[in-house]
Amino acid sequence: MATYDAIIIGSGPGGYVCAIRCAQLGLKVACVEGRETLGGTCLNVGCIPSKALLHATHMLHEAEHNFAAMGLKGKSPSVDWDQMLSYKTSTIEQNTKGIEFLFKKNKVDWIKGWASIPEAGQVKVGDEVHEARNIIIASGSEAASLPGVEVDEKRVVTSTGALELGKVPKKMVVIGAGVIGLELGSVYARLGADVTVVEFLDVVTPGMDAEIQKNFQKTMKKQGLEFIMGAAVQKTETTKTKAKVHYKLRKDDSEHVLDADVVLVATGRKPYTDGLGLDALGVKMTDRGQIAVNETWETNVKGVYAIGDVIEGPMLAHKAEDEGMAAAEQVAGKHGHVNYGVIPGVIYTHPEVANVGATEESLKDQGRAYKVGKFSFMGNGRAKANFAGDGFVKILADKDTDRILGAHIIGPMAGDLIHEICVAMEFGASAEDLAMTCHAHPTYSEAVREAALACGDGPIHM
Ligand code: FAD
Ligand code: NAI
Repeated sequence: MATYDAIIIGSGPGGYVCAIRCAQLGLKVACVEGRETLGGTCLNVGCIPSKALLHATHMLHEAEHNFAAMGLKGKSPSVDWDQMLSYKTSTIEQNTKGIEFLFKKNKVDWIKGWASIPEAGQVKVGDEVHEARNIIIASGSEAASLPGVEVDEKRVVTSTGALELGKVPKKMVVIGAGVIGLELGSVYARLGADVTVVEFLDVVTPGMDAEIQKNFQKTMKKQGLEFIMGAAVQKTETTKTKAKVHYKLRKDDSEHVLDADVVLVATGRKPYTDGLGLDALGVKMTDRGQIAVNETWETNVKGVYAIGDVIEGPMLAHKAEDEGMAAAEQVAGKHGHVNYGVIPGVIYTHPEVANVGATEESLKDQGRAYKVGKFSFMGNGRAKANFAGDGFVKILADKDTDRILGAHIIGPMAGDLIHEICVAMEFGASAEDLAMTCHAHPTYSEAVREAALACGDGPIHM
């Protein structure tokens, strides 16, 4: 029986980062993973495969829509779906093997199998019990279920099934206009599927800045996605080759049915804690099924910590990673820290959507005096050259102090552009600080500077 300073359960972005940081801090560490490969949801069936398909289909979209105008003539590429799936699989493999390499390099022991915690200080995998001074649970999340909707991962699929469909469906119904629904809906719309998104609320991507929500939905509509808003899905029915989605419109309770070849259920994810033995261990949970932790990520059971999707907060890989590093520092006797006020969110559609910090609606709710600086990508030379003029940058700053409170971008490379605003916010910068920073020309990032200028005396190019 080996004795460790720390055992991490789960090798997703939370777990593997925590394990590597523990090792870097001189701890003897192991990471238990039940899957065949390392990397968790993100690398195997989440962030990485979805971005591979988004990239490939974006290339197709560019070839079909923008090549001819740039003088690139010829037939548009045809889709070899099997090859696209192989490209996706090889991208996953490169990434999961990369974590294997990092574990070896950092001397992290990979314990293969499903773990439970019989008591504090012990992790059981199969018949073997391993001793650990600290246990960090990073067991992640799984797709939430919907009453009346039975997932078979063939005709009615979660994101996992949607990443490996046997063929491109002619008609796809997506339940939920959240991040997964719109990213994977985009993928299949670009591949020629007729995609209808059925959403319970009246807005897409709940929680986002309302102006972005409206613009984003309009953009997705222009790209061919159809939306049925304010619709509560009642049930699905499947035959061998088809599916039906029954829904009720909330405004008048009228009942409707949609036919589909494939139905993607994308109505959120829930923490995954099956088989860990948390009940018997007496670990406190929140009323949303998350593991409850204190500000050092420790549960009510001493020496047992939890991070990532299994605790509260946005279910994002980088949030899990930050908690992984911070929890490692805690168990190594240092002071880990995560600034939850500056966690960016990105949707990798085209254009991308990115946000950080406060929305205009949240500032109104708080009764806070703020100003808005906005700049359209139409005024950005690089964006115009690249057929990427749709969208804008919006910066929210305190009316009196000019301190940046939040930012929202829909446009080219939004997911990269957001980070200069994150850094600015980490340093407590004002919009003027950003506006006075020289930005190279011609870059998309000039639009960020112009939005910052718009918080003051005004942008130049608008
Ligand atoms: P996970 O990545 O879920 O890893 C948990 C691991 O623990 C799993 O491998 C599981 O097998 C293992 N495990 C569980 N229980 C046990 C046990 N008892 N014993 C052993 N092993 C166990 N986030 C982003 O930030 N950007 C994106 O672009 C993005 N895209 C996504 C796309 C999709 C389709 C999905 C589904 C999610 C996406 N996410 C994205 C969310 C992201 O994947 C998660 O936030 C992230 O993976 C959470 O990391 P984690 O370490 O908490 O858990
Ligand atoms: P989500 O929470 O983003 O969206 C779920 C949507 O489904 C919401 O709009 C909700 O109103 C709707 N909904 C719920 N019940 C419904 C019903 N009965 N009928 C119709 N609509 C209903 O969840 P999603 O898209 O499943 O993603 C899960 C998690 O994965 C998210 O928390 C997200 O952070 C993460 N993720 C992150 C990505 C990224 O960072 N780019 C990409 C994909 C996932």
